Amino acid sequence: MPSLIDEIEPLKQSALAEMTSAPDVAALERAKGNWTGAHGKFTALMKQLGSLPKEDRPAAGKRINEAKVQLEAALAARRQELELKAALPKEPTDFTLPGRRRTLGKLHPLTQVTDEIVRSFRKIGFVVADGPEVEDEYHCFDALNTPADHPARDTQDTFYLKVEQASSLLDKEADTTKAGKMPAPLLLRTHTSSVQIRVMEKQPPPVRIIVPGRVYRRDNADATHNPTFQQIEGLYVDKGVTVGDLKGTVEFVFKELLGSDVKIRFRPHYFSYTEPSFEIDFSSPLTRKMGKEWLEIAGCGMVHPQVFENVGYDPEDWTGWAFGFGIERIAMIRYGINDIRLFYENDLRFLRQF
Ligand code: DAH
Repeated sequence: MPSLIDEIEPLKQSALAEMTSAPDVAALERAKGNWTGAHGKFTALMKQLGSLPKEDRPAAGKRINEAKVQLEAALAARRQELELKAALPKEPTDFTLPGRRRTLGKLHPLTQVTDEIVRSFRKIGFVVADGPEVEDEYHCFDALNTPADHPARDTQDTFYLKVEQASSLLDKEADTTKAGKMPAPLLLRTHTSSVQIRVMEKQPPPVRIIVPGRVYRRDNADATHNPTFQQIEGLYVDKGVTVGDLKGTVEFVFKELLGSDVKIRFRPHYFSYTEPSFEIDFSSPLTRKMGKEWLEIAGCGMVHPQVFENVGYDPEDWTGWAFGFGIERIAMIRYGINDIRLFYENDLRFLRQF
């Protein structure tokens, strides 16, 4: 039946036309069904091959197969085209739109408060000093007039280091010459007061320093405690320094930090490295918001003569004051934060608020 062979070409052309013009993938699937699917017209043609005279079958079979290969290629090509079109944006890109700005990071709230405290002290002539966080017992306690059997040491229970642990940590300390001289036992410093000693050992008086830094205590974390926290230490040594100087300085700085309506009061206290010693309370609209008139905020006092002796300053000639307070506490009061642990969780929802 020669008519079957004649049908191949026009059928193929119609199939190609429908396939290449299919407007979407669904239409393409329909076209496939119409032509090369199980009940498609092209498939029907193939099924008629058997009705041809035997000698015509090879030629007809060959032509049909060639046509089928072409149709399948056309299907695949159109499918790829349609899928690509579907993946492209519907609207043309507007290159005149402003670009997306990268959001800038910010300093951590504790860093911001520290910077502000440092700025206030710089206004009145203080410079920033630094010391090692891995400290020896002598600088952390003994030189500060707190010998081994002193009860004040119990309240600053801390992390001691094994010798091999300590030596690998000390390699990382910036000032290895200083650290290299450290006698065991070594510990993570419990307060920044150790830096008072390190600075006085290195330079003659007068001294006017503040020391912001990280300190460590074996405390369980709760809303107001964390085993790692930050302190600021202050030390002022000169001739004829009085408690009046101490109070005036503290008042100036806290007014800068927490508002001009801040009131300060000193309560007698005990620290082994100061005599007399005081605790500093302050009162402001912020403390009243926290339900308290007075809040304890810092420790301070006049430098103990024994401390001067320990660093080789003559206590007959030199006088001074020192103080120390926690930075977290200031930040918590300032921003109304009720849990110290929030500072260390690195939760951006918290950090973005400052
Ligand atoms: N070192 C004390 C502490 O960690 C704070 C302190 C109190 C520092 C009195 C001082 C001071 O310099 O004079 O609790």
